[in-house]
Amino acid sequence: MTHSVLKCHYCGAEYTIDRNIYTCDKCGNILDVYHYDMEYSLTGLKGVWKYKNLIHPGINEGTIISKGEGNTNLYSNSRISEFSGIDKIFLKHEGENPTGSFKDRGMTVAVSEAMRLKFNKTLCASTGNTSAAAASYSSFAGIESYVIIPEKNISANKLFQAIAYGANIVDIEGDFDSAMDNVRKTIAKRNDFYVLNSLNPWRIEGQKTIIYEIMEKIKPDFITFPAGNLGNTSAFGKALMDLKSLGVIDDVPRLVAIQAEGASPFYNYINGKQESIIPVKAETIASAIKIGNPVNYKKAKRSLEFTRGIVEKVSDDQIMEAKRAIDRAGIGCEPASAAAVAGVKKLRDAGIMHKGDTVASILTGHILKDVSIIPEHKTLRISDIF
Ligand code: F0G
Repeated sequence: MTHSVLKCHYCGAEYTIDRNIYTCDKCGNILDVYHYDMEYSLTGLKGVWKYKNLIHPGINEGTIISKGEGNTNLYSNSRISEFSGIDKIFLKHEGENPTGSFKDRGMTVAVSEAMRLKFNKTLCASTGNTSAAAASYSSFAGIESYVIIPEKNISANKLFQAIAYGANIVDIEGDFDSAMDNVRKTIAKRNDFYVLNSLNPWRIEGQKTIIYEIMEKIKPDFITFPAGNLGNTSAFGKALMDLKSLGVIDDVPRLVAIQAEGASPFYNYINGKQESIIPVKAETIASAIKIGNPVNYKKAKRSLEFTRGIVEKVSDDQIMEAKRAIDRAGIGCEPASAAAVAGVKKLRDAGIMHKGDTVASILTGHILKDVSIIPEHKTLRISDIF
């Protein structure tokens, strides 16, 4: 029988999953969910919960809070191949989740945990997508959500979702990083909020399923994705460790985390071989990844080490150029997501990726998530068409 605990990778301390903690009492590092005697057996459920035995084996199926997340499409498209210079590039569209981003995969697990631990209030900081998902899943479960939002740094569409789903909006001056600081300060003072940021190890468990789904369909050499708070980077490495240790895969694809140039502290940390991460004041058009002090950087480093991973950075112009190609291919995504493909093009041009490689790029959010930048376009008169 699988047995799950909260475990500190760094000092080895273990805690029961019935405790509401995110960081190690002994050394302060962010905890992992660890499953002893994990087995690779799939359930009859769809989407994320098909992998229940790898993410939360012990939870009672009847108590799961789910809106049918996961099982998203993996597209191939000749225009994207042409744009990126990679013949076999596949786009995994996480914008197809219920609230329009990958966050739903983590949220179904974390909000189910909030319920199992009998919380009636959730809390998160967000650049937008987390707050939309947190608000939706909390309300769906019948509990209250509080979202701390840097109002000047979030797309109106995402804020609209959080408000409409009934979240309590806490507006702060400053950016995502100060919002995240406020979450940490709040939970240090009171314990009646359940935190839904990727600081919560259950979020990571849910997000692992993106990788399980990709690896079921293709054998990529590289998996690329936009990186901000580094929850996905952490989750993806953990998912690949699972599959490798269970004997499901032999070859481990290289993870490629792509940051926006103006928000690239992880790029500096890894490529500059810094001892610790040095926070930056983030600036980028891709507001979802406008993050200067990512909380998950240690777990993310572990993921890169396990997969011989790469961190790359791309400019706002490169992001918008890739977005245009993705949108014009009829697939569409929000600006941050396009960084995943902009990074492929850059690495192909640099000779690190090759035309014959197989690449999976993760589009993290839906095209309607941020419509503040209307693309340049030509309009016709009615007389032009008849
Ligand atoms: N792409 C999108 C669309 C996002 O919303 C985020 C993060 C990321 C990529 C980066 O993922 O944090 O796991 O490295 N958005 C968070 C939010 C921070 O608050 O919605 P990450």
